[in-house]
Amino acid sequence: MLRNASDSWGAPAKLFHWVMAALILAQIALGLMAANWRLSPTKIELFFWHKSTGMLILALVALRLLWRLANPTPLLPPGMAAWERAAARLSHLLLYALMIALPVTGWIVNSASNVPFRIFWLIPLPAIVAPDEPTADLVAWVHGGLAALLALVLVAHIGAALRHHFVKRDTVLERMLPGAWRAP
Ligand code: HEM
Ligand code: HEM
Repeated sequence: MLRNASDSWGAPAKLFHWVMAALILAQIALGLMAANWRLSPTKIELFFWHKSTGMLILALVALRLLWRLANPTPLLPPGMAAWERAAARLSHLLLYALMIALPVTGWIVNSASNVPFRIFWLIPLPAIVAPDEPTADLVAWVHGGLAALLALVLVAHIGAALRHHFVKRDTVLERMLPGAWRAP
């Protein structure tokens, strides 16, 4: 079961979802730790992992979106109200937008601060804007704000998944879990 169907996610879509969910939750913690650590080699190391993981997330979301376009997206269960469908669509769109906007703004901060950097020691990260301190400060602020927005949307997203499972008792959470799943 590689491809998605109208009632279920295929294995690649599930793998993308859960690998990226783990990376993004770790990435929020890493960003907070790196930004707040006292100036020391550990702080530099935390930023190394934060920036490398962030660029990995950007590459993965590009592949994930291609895979999403090449497949049908499972339909939401028939019993859902119009506002619930709209909230699901809007929050998923926001999550995809944030998975792109966060790495891109981080990349801009790194470029504007003129810090040379190799992703996972290997790939030199090219600058996408000229070195400029006010730009770095402003975009760092935007980056932090977007991360806070991401955390908020994720609280709603995870809450909604639990509500589907425990309150509405539909299949929305189960069909995203690893392993084969069949429509009842
Ligand atoms: C850790 C707890 C999480 C749970 C329980 C969870 C649960 C789910 C479930 C059940 C779906 C399927 C919705 C459907 O079938 O229509 C889904 C979709 C989605 N999740 Fe999560 N999720 C979690 C974390 C995350 C994280 C950290 C992200 C990262 C931003 C994320 C991004 C998404 C996106 C973008 C979709 C929409 C997929 C699409 O339509 O292509 N999720 N999630
Ligand atoms: C999904 C991807 C990302 C997430 C969720 C994320 C999240 C965060 C968070 C939560 C902070 C702490 C904000 C604060 O305390 O003010 C932060 C700071 C930072 N991040 Fe990211 N980040 C991501 C990607 C990146 C990437 C790809 C880079 C660079 C290539 C990057 C560079 C930075 C920098 C330089 C800071 C410190 C900003 C400052 O000086 O306040 N981030 N990030």
